[in-house]
Amino acid sequence: MKETLDCRSILEWYIYAGVDETIGESPVNRLAESAVVEPRPEARPATPLPPSNQNTEPRAAAAPPLQSRKAALQTAREIAAAAQSLDDLRAAFEAFDGCPLKETAMNFVFADGGKDARLMFVGEAPGAEEDRRGLPFVGPAGRLLDKMLAAIGLGREDVYITNILPWRPPGNRNPTDSEIVACLPFLERHIELVDPDILLLVGGTSAKTLLRRQEGIMRLRGKWMTYEPREGGPVTARALLHPAYLLRQPAQKRETWQDLIEIRQRLDEVANV
Ligand code: URA
Repeated sequence: MKETLDCRSILEWYIYAGVDETIGESPVNRLAESAVVEPRPEARPATPLPPSNQNTEPRAAAAPPLQSRKAALQTAREIAAAAQSLDDLRAAFEAFDGCPLKETAMNFVFADGGKDARLMFVGEAPGAEEDRRGLPFVGPAGRLLDKMLAAIGLGREDVYITNILPWRPPGNRNPTDSEIVACLPFLERHIELVDPDILLLVGGTSAKTLLRRQEGIMRLRGKWMTYEPREGGPVTARALLHPAYLLRQPAQKRETWQDLIEIRQRLDEVANV
């Protein structure tokens, strides 16, 4: 058997095991870390006993109380609702610890584009390039999105772009329902603050979440729909095939071209109202 592995086979093994990201310049020896053990309690200096006239009831642990899912959702709603501007919302969301993806992502990806845009895109979640740069839709799918926008005479500054989740799911896996639910109050407030004329739901996850529908994207796309927010009036919405899907299935671009033409027409109509 070969005693030492060459770098190439180690890299190949990493790829085989699903590693698609390097997050540090030098390796960390986790085995050495776990070898540093906490001193045993009896080795610590003794804590003085309380004087006998003080309350000797056992004290509650200082750890914060665990919140039920419902309470956590209510907390997220309250934090999001308190944001009075996009800057407030960005700061509050970035500080929010209720979504575990925050632990594994490199960057918080909030939004891009013009704050006064009438067209708001909501994608799914950052991919590897978005995670590295802290901006939505800047990878291969984003470059196709830019071309789609240019085809109807729009640039990034003419639209506003965000995602259902601001943190990348490891390995680009699909977001889980609990990750979506945890972050949804922030997205709902985000839409309220941007107040677009038209909401474009990019891909099945975005469409199903915001339209509260079970059907797949193929059934939801191709028609005008309505986003009914918890607060405020309805917003005209349209589901679009995700550009990442179009990169894999270029034959579907024809359908999307039709969607884009109708979106441009609707945008011109609302501008003339
Ligand atoms: N896919 C998305 O849904 N969002 C991004 O920001 C990038 C890729």
